Amino acid sequence: MLSASNPYFKFLSDHYGGERAEALWLSLQAKHGSASVRSVDLGGSESYQLDTASYVVAQSVPDVSHKIVLDLCAAPGGKSLVIAHRYPRVNRIICNEISKDRRFRMKANFDRCLPPEMNERMEIWGRDGASLGFENLKKHLGFDGVLVDAPCSSDAHHVEQKGSGADFFSEKKTKALAQRQYALLCSAILATRPGGWIQYATCTLSPLENDAVIQRVCEKKSDLITWEQIPLRDASVESLPAGSMSHGERTSYGVRIFPDQYPGQGPLYTARLRRRDAGA
Ligand SMILES: C[S@@+](CC[C@H](N)C(=O)[O-])C[C@H]1O[C@@H](n2cnc3c(N)ncnc32)[C@H](O)[C@@H]1O
Repeated sequence: MLSASNPYFKFLSDHYGGERAEALWLSLQAKHGSASVRSVDLGGSESYQLDTASYVVAQSVPDVSHKIVLDLCAAPGGKSLVIAHRYPRVNRIICNEISKDRRFRMKANFDRCLPPEMNERMEIWGRDGASLGFENLKKHLGFDGVLVDAPCSSDAHHVEQKGSGADFFSEKKTKALAQRQYALLCSAILATRPGGWIQYATCTLSPLENDAVIQRVCEKKSDLITWEQIPLRDASVESLPAGSMSHGERTSYGVRIFPDQYPGQGPLYTARLRRRDAGA
């Protein structure tokens, strides 16, 4: 167990209360070796495996059949692959990634997991996602939808590497990441056509990188966007309607899948915005 003076545990306790902080910490530890994984088979030579919560979030984006979608922070390409799987008639997925090494890894994943006719629809870009939307203003691109799977504290990854040390975390770092995430989200909004959607995701427990980022955008960019609730599946309905999630816990602005509630899954957080129609 982490000591009460550990900055990560203290932060979790301040935001979730001591009891839930303990449950969250234990569930992150328990995830190693018993993670819940989904396998996505797109008809390539290999299938792609990812955390169930990542799968649930990626397949919850609105219907993009015949549309052009931008995955702003795309590598190693897991969520783009899930979108291609969910909407095989997508026109194009622009998979943007700032890191060259990670772009190579993503390309290799696409080559292995996608049949040629789908691979042709995956376009890899290497721009800085935080400025892409400002270029878009000049070029008038206007994507139908933009996924912002932002760089974040990645709690589960760090806990796996550092174990009970959990010294990856500081309040200063999570605040700095929230600032980067806000910049990426503002850029994504500008890259989206009027009426298009923007879906934000992180894999951290930190509310400063989750609801607080969405709250800030809603307050500061209300001239450009509206907030949209992501529907959760009605248990009595068997099929999953486009744009909705099979499970998760509602927050003020989004939905979270945390491993204390859904063993082996997440943490994953997501929220959706809609670009206002021109003149609205
Ligand atoms: C959470 S990971 C994305 C995971 C990916 N969506 C998936 O499901 O496989 C975030 C990615 O954003 C990239 N990134 C960080 N800053 C960026 C920026 N300014 N522009 C574009 N990509 C960025 C990181 O290199 C990292 O690969």
